[in-house]
Amino acid sequence: MQFLVNVLRQDGVDNALISLLQTVGVACKEINFRLHQGALAGVLGSTEDENVQGEVQKKLDVISNDLLKDLLLQSGLVKALASEEEDDIVVGDIDGQFLIAFDPLDGSSNIDINAMVGTIFSIYRANDSLVVDESSFLQPGSLQVAAGYVVYGPATLLVLTTGNGVKMFTLDQTLGEYLLTVKKVNIDPDTQEFAINMSNQRHWAKPMQDYIDDLLKGSEGPRGKNFNMRWVAAMVADVHRILCRGGLFSYPWDRRAPEKPGKLRLMYEANPMAMLIEQAGGRASTGTQRILDIQPEQIHQRVAVVLGAANEVGAVEQYYSHQR
Ligand code: F6P
Repeated sequence: MQFLVNVLRQDGVDNALISLLQTVGVACKEINFRLHQGALAGVLGSTEDENVQGEVQKKLDVISNDLLKDLLLQSGLVKALASEEEDDIVVGDIDGQFLIAFDPLDGSSNIDINAMVGTIFSIYRANDSLVVDESSFLQPGSLQVAAGYVVYGPATLLVLTTGNGVKMFTLDQTLGEYLLTVKKVNIDPDTQEFAINMSNQRHWAKPMQDYIDDLLKGSEGPRGKNFNMRWVAAMVADVHRILCRGGLFSYPWDRRAPEKPGKLRLMYEANPMAMLIEQAGGRASTGTQRILDIQPEQIHQRVAVVLGAANEVGAVEQYYSHQR
């Protein structure tokens, strides 16, 4: 049996980062417990409050956010944190070595139907300045020192990279420990499976409409092969499937909200997933730019996302480049 902490030590991860990842792991065990209580814990449904994205918060979003926030702030390791459920950054210990951004419960509309949800996190090393504010977080994703998610499904898994490939740990619910179950994740560069919310097709930009049209033409079309489609409507679950068996995931720009570059959030959804995907040999793009190269302008900014099988992401980029 290989426990999380031993695996990280063998990988040469420093003690402070190991402690931080353990803290995230502990908070996620507690979130996992609450989720599995379901209606028994009285945690389903919504609060009256809206988060910064204008969505009504589910009670479990709030609970998960508070659990992570409290444990991270108590750890003394975190200089500041940013969360989907917090309008502003939350300042922690001025000597803390890390900045962490997270989505405490991604795909939370799945909770009421007992479907997969997850916690996504992105970690940067903090500098030793005595001032910490939103600008401290505005670093490209390529500077992340660790990224990952915990997916709460039939089994609960921690999927993690510290820049040395992607590993999967399964939570042993009796031991209360994350055990290594996949040593190295590899995404096949080719695929015949895509994930996108097809009901929005008429709102997309022309290159994305054309790309999906060509996939749907199957073996008789320009791609010369048939494609299957899957959509869980929780990014964490769709990306998890891609890390397990390949595929392409996209949430592109659409003209229902033309002023926004996309729906998903750069700092705590796209960046950590992009690091995982690249570390597993895939690619992550906006359609025109590598996601990890984007210089963020604010912590809650949105971005168009195309990620997964390297050759397929390349194919999408070809459609966009022909448009220009
Ligand atoms: O965070 C937003 C999110 O819930 C993602 O996890 C998911 O991929 C997407 O929205 C689902 O969007 P839609 O409801 O439009 O299918």
